Amino acid sequence: MLEIPVELGARRYVVSVGRGLARLLPDLLAPLGKRHTVVVASRLLLKSHGKALARPLERLGVVHTCVVPDGERFKSRRTLEGVYDAFLKARLGRDGLVLALGGGVVGDLAGFAAASWMRGVDWVVVPTTLLAMVDSSIGGKVGINHARAKNMIGAFHQPRAVVIDPAFLATLPMRELRSGAYEILKCAVLGDAALFARLLRAPLGLEGWERPELDNAIATACRIKAEIVEKDEHEGQLRYVLNLGHTIGHALEAVTRYRRYTHGEAVGWGLIGASWIAHDRGLLAASEYDGIASAVDRLGPRPRMSDLEPIALLEAISHDKKGRAGRVPFVLPTAIGSVVVQHDVKPPEIRRALRAMAGREALRD
Ligand SMILES: NC(=O)c1ccc[n+]([C@@H]2O[C@H](COP(=O)([O-])OP(=O)(O)OC[C@H]3O[C@@H](n4cnc5c(N)ncnc54)[C@H](O)[C@@H]3O)[C@@H](O)[C@H]2O)c1
Ligand SMILES: [Zn+2]
Repeated sequence: MLEIPVELGARRYVVSVGRGLARLLPDLLAPLGKRHTVVVASRLLLKSHGKALARPLERLGVVHTCVVPDGERFKSRRTLEGVYDAFLKARLGRDGLVLALGGGVVGDLAGFAAASWMRGVDWVVVPTTLLAMVDSSIGGKVGINHARAKNMIGAFHQPRAVVIDPAFLATLPMRELRSGAYEILKCAVLGDAALFARLLRAPLGLEGWERPELDNAIATACRIKAEIVEKDEHEGQLRYVLNLGHTIGHALEAVTRYRRYTHGEAVGWGLIGASWIAHDRGLLAASEYDGIASAVDRLGPRPRMSDLEPIALLEAISHDKKGRAGRVPFVLPTAIGSVVVQHDVKPPEIRRALRAMAGREALRD
């Protein structure tokens, strides 16, 4: 088992990574003391892993399991109401514990429920998708969607522990696995040339990716995210670098109403776009741009983007909620392992990046 501490003073916690850890949950969480525990779990996840989890959850002292339906549209106020009802029924008090079991949707929802219940109860998260393992479970950002705006209702509420058992990934559809892998690639471009090299050696489309390689990539990505969160818990300047690939990525998702791409696929396209802009500005060597774009392409096919209207994408980018006063900061790679944030990227540059992205689509077909 690997242990990655997230050093946040009084809010310090450990991310544990290891195969079979789900069975050891009661032991791993023993330092938190015996607690009145409510599990918030994905329905699909329980279908495939519920049997194996029954015993450990029983040993943990779980008093109630709140099953939530799967899908982004259930990261909603309505589902949240149901979670609160379950908390009430289970008489979850200030000294209780919420355990989130599922992908990023369940983690964000359960974490937000914990953040707001009685002004904050402790929670732990057991992520079961690759994306949730390497991204959403670390850092304490929790929340739900407004019907017209994603992630608009939220809070910062750090978990007390993150338990990552890569064995869950055996049942994860390949497309969801790749979705998380694009975020791992993002982490590599942000801060780890060795991880980047390993990803370049991964099998095409990740078919048959070996377990030790996958586990190593998960742990390294967690460490990179943890280090960034430690330096900037509440998303000031520094943590913003985690948005690499997300400026164009979010626009692709919004313009296609979150139906065409998985989050990671959109980030994959966005990584190519941001790298192109960096190259276009003379910040990134052509060979490095090629390296990043090929690494993205190697992870697998992504739904097309060349049919989307550039004007609609530019419009969506200018509405990015991270932008202030109409300016949307772009995270631009300058080498594998380093980035800069620039606030003056102009629409014509973004248009050229969109053309470069579309060009790669043709390359692949
Ligand atoms: N809080 C953060 O910092 C942060 C960061 C990134 C993303 N997010 C959020 O995370 C969400 C996306 O997370 P996601 O990609 O995990 O999506 P998800 O939670 O919707 O999971 C994807 C699908 O995989 C299924 N699934 C989960 N575990 C499985 C398993 N082990 N085997 C088989 N199927 C399984 C789910 O039921 C779902 O259908 C978005 O809502 C996004 O906003 C949050
Ligand atoms: Zn992301």
